Amino acid sequence: MPHSSIDVIANPLAPVDGRIGESSVHHVPSGFSDQFAQGFTRLLRFCADTFFAKRYGHRAIVLETVAAVPGMVGATIQHLNSLRRMVDDEGWIRTLMEEAENERMHLMTFIEIAQPTVFERLVVMLAQWIFYVGFFLLYLVSSRTAHRVVGYFEEEAVISYTLYLEEIDAGRSPNVPAPYIAKHYWKLSADATLRDVVLLVRADEAHHRDINHGFADKLSGLISAQAHVAPYPPHADEIRVKA
Ligand SMILES: [Fe+2]
Ligand SMILES: [Fe+2]
Repeated sequence: MPHSSIDVIANPLAPVDGRIGESSVHHVPSGFSDQFAQGFTRLLRFCADTFFAKRYGHRAIVLETVAAVPGMVGATIQHLNSLRRMVDDEGWIRTLMEEAENERMHLMTFIEIAQPTVFERLVVMLAQWIFYVGFFLLYLVSSRTAHRVVGYFEEEAVISYTLYLEEIDAGRSPNVPAPYIAKHYWKLSADATLRDVVLLVRADEAHHRDINHGFADKLSGLISAQAHVAPYPPHADEIRVKA
């Protein structure tokens, strides 16, 4: 069985605790499906760069509303596949539902940091209609391409959160105290800051990246090139905070 191919680019932010220097990993596309997934991702990256520039708080909110969709779509379709074919899902459904929940917690965190404009809320509503239906259809036509798209999205998410960290470290974005919901979800100390949260969010995105590239590899009949899957930081099991 052939191997997939990746480029690993060391992160410019020096590793201190093993997470800060999260490497940028790029799956080298092979074939039309991968090329399509990469091209689609680059198009959306260009749109996001043009629309948000360096407003990373707003960028995070709008993009997390989109990022939380694929896991739930994939879980739904895999669930239906498992029922219809009466075969085991090999853990894919729970993994994808966990991804969707994790992305929604990113949103619940960043909404405490920045407030979207009215126009951004309209963009979110429109984007959800288009992206949910589009991704659902893509997953039905080619689940391999759909997971590869998410893998490439997550590669970009790791880069975007690295840039957000650079803005915080340069003092251009204030390093405010971490929102309470983030402290609860990632089990942070009372004095945790936004920087701590962004590091953890970036580690989550690296995990999603490796999982989705791994699913796409499996559906392509490839052995994943990753030596290991980037681990999730520990999360609270009970995500709801008490009033
Ligand atoms: Fe996210
Ligand atoms: Fe993600």
